[in-house]
Amino acid sequence: MLRRNFIKLLAAFFASIIGFIGLFRFREAVKVDKNVIKLPEPVKTGKMSVEEAIEGRRSRREYANTPVSLKEISQLCWAAQGITDRRYGFRAAPSAGALYPLEIFIVAGNTELEQGIYQYLPDEHGLKLIESGDFRGGLAKVALGQSSIKNAAMNIVITAIYERTARKYGSRAERYVHMEAGHAAQNVYLQAESLELATVSIGAFYDGDVRELLLAPEDHIPLYIMPVGKKK
Ligand SMILES: Cc1cc2nc3c(=O)[nH]c(=O)nc-3n(C[C@H](O)[C@H](O)[C@H](O)COP(=O)(O)O)c2cc1C
Repeated sequence: MLRRNFIKLLAAFFASIIGFIGLFRFREAVKVDKNVIKLPEPVKTGKMSVEEAIEGRRSRREYANTPVSLKEISQLCWAAQGITDRRYGFRAAPSAGALYPLEIFIVAGNTELEQGIYQYLPDEHGLKLIESGDFRGGLAKVALGQSSIKNAAMNIVITAIYERTARKYGSRAERYVHMEAGHAAQNVYLQAESLELATVSIGAFYDGDVRELLLAPEDHIPLYIMPVGKKK
């Protein structure tokens, strides 16, 4: 009897030790902020030359029903606004005065991510979950019902905070910010092309409704929606 109790006690002791180690390891694997997902490191070599990507790029509005992977999301975010020089914080797309007024949101549907709205964090190369759920249909609705948005595996939304650039450049900031959105969007087009993904840059939508759907603060102005899916 005494021996059986001792064995039970010993088993409970070891179980709690294993549990404690498990908890510790779990804590190590998860970021401090539980809503931030670390993206895989971007890969710097591809199957396609930049010339082939420029030639092959097209606006594509129909997509295969295949999920977009986390690796692909990582590449797209990196191409849009990823940090490419950590010494100075310079990014993949040029920016007037390196003031970086653009923000990248992901509206994930059929991807390796949980469905939801995410904001890209260039410093962490991570995604912050803003809200869970499938918002593709809602986003299409506030963009004149464009079906490419609803049917895509995910959408990239580029917003801008003009004030970041206006503080230095005054009224000239508006044109700079728009030029920058073009640079970022072109990078997304070329990265998508080289990954055999399809995308289109969409400018027709109701700004206020898109901002509200993203739950973005009022100083964000949406400039582009880019649906992304596997090429058909
Ligand atoms: C500023 C801008 C706004 C655009 N808006 C839309 C849009 O709302 N919906 C859409 O399907 N395509 C949109 N496009 C994509 C164009 O229709 C497309 O670039 C054009 O037809 C040329 O085709 P390509 O991109 O394949 O060369 C837009 C493109 C730009 C540059």
